[in-house]
Amino acid sequence: MKGEDTTMADTNHLNADYLLQLSCGYWKSHVLFTAVGFDLFTILNRGRRTAKEISQTIQANERATEMLLNALVSLDLLTKQENYYANSVLSNRHLIKGNPYYLGDSIHHFHNMMDTWAMLRETIETGNPVSLKDLPEEVDPHDVRDFITAMHNLASVKTEEICSKIDLKEAKLLLDIAGGPGTYAIALAMANPGLHAVVFDLEHTIRLTREFIAAAKIEDRVTTQAGNCLEDSFGEKVYDAILVSNLLHIYNPANNTRILRKCRDALRERGLIVIHEFVLDTTKTHPQFAAIFSLNMLLGTQEGESYSEDEYRVWLANAGFEDIKRIDLESNSTLILGKKK
Ligand SMILES: C[S@@+](CC[C@H](N)C(=O)[O-])C[C@H]1O[C@@H](n2cnc3c(N)ncnc32)[C@H](O)[C@@H]1O
Repeated sequence: MKGEDTTMADTNHLNADYLLQLSCGYWKSHVLFTAVGFDLFTILNRGRRTAKEISQTIQANERATEMLLNALVSLDLLTKQENYYANSVLSNRHLIKGNPYYLGDSIHHFHNMMDTWAMLRETIETGNPVSLKDLPEEVDPHDVRDFITAMHNLASVKTEEICSKIDLKEAKLLLDIAGGPGTYAIALAMANPGLHAVVFDLEHTIRLTREFIAAAKIEDRVTTQAGNCLEDSFGEKVYDAILVSNLLHIYNPANNTRILRKCRDALRERGLIVIHEFVLDTTKTHPQFAAIFSLNMLLGTQEGESYSEDEYRVWLANAGFEDIKRIDLESNSTLILGKKK
């Protein structure tokens, strides 16, 4: 879309069309949500189909189905030849259920967030998130499964790059704090045959983490530990490396420094810490995704937001880390690495 990642210097090309595109951006989201909801791309994986055939398969109105399919072609998610629809290359890679890079569960998760985003005005007025289910007893197991499966989708498309950027050749033991589905821990263990990984997360998440580890058949080298990273210790001088991926945007600076200090305690001498996050620049206005993701955290957490590289550097230094460096990934996130002093 026009205007992506614009800076003060290059906004002059923006026009009325840009504003209208922003206003109806959610139309496109709904086309995708609906298609994924019908699992259209998995259906089309069995071979090209006409609108009539597809409408019969999904038990929907034929005229309406044809309009949906045409909109999907306009979005490059399908192709159309004569009256036959087929998956595009992108849909074949990411929208067919069961494929390793499937993103349908994360698309479903973004769809689930629509109601919360509709409350943005109220949230800005009060500064408080709309609805929160923080306590384990309030957490609906169905919601947790949806969320953790979505996290697995999102991580799956990044594991290859992340594994290539983190050198764990000499490491024996890795801790993946708030590892969720354990996708990164599993991938790092697979990429480094001498490595054992421990995934630490809340009890209600760890039950699902075990399923992902079992599905990857790596129970002998990836294990779990249930706990709360704000309250529980991670141990003393145990780990060679610690991964903290997509956790610190949930908490405030004081809690983040606390978590990082505990990471320092849990690392051996010169141990490696790797933070993986959507990192803002010093103005906190770019990259665009990180700036808007900050609102997502405002809506969905008690104290979270996106932070800047400078903030991560200060917390790491205060927690006892040095040799801090940044690696930008090809997608929208960044690794910040440091060594225990
Ligand atoms: C956004 S997910 C990130 C999952 C994974 N690290 C990744 O990058 O794909 C955040 C994870 O933090 C976990 N979490 C949040 N607060 C936590 C806490 N206080 N203690 C332990 N885990 C926590 C959640 O259960 C969830 O699995």
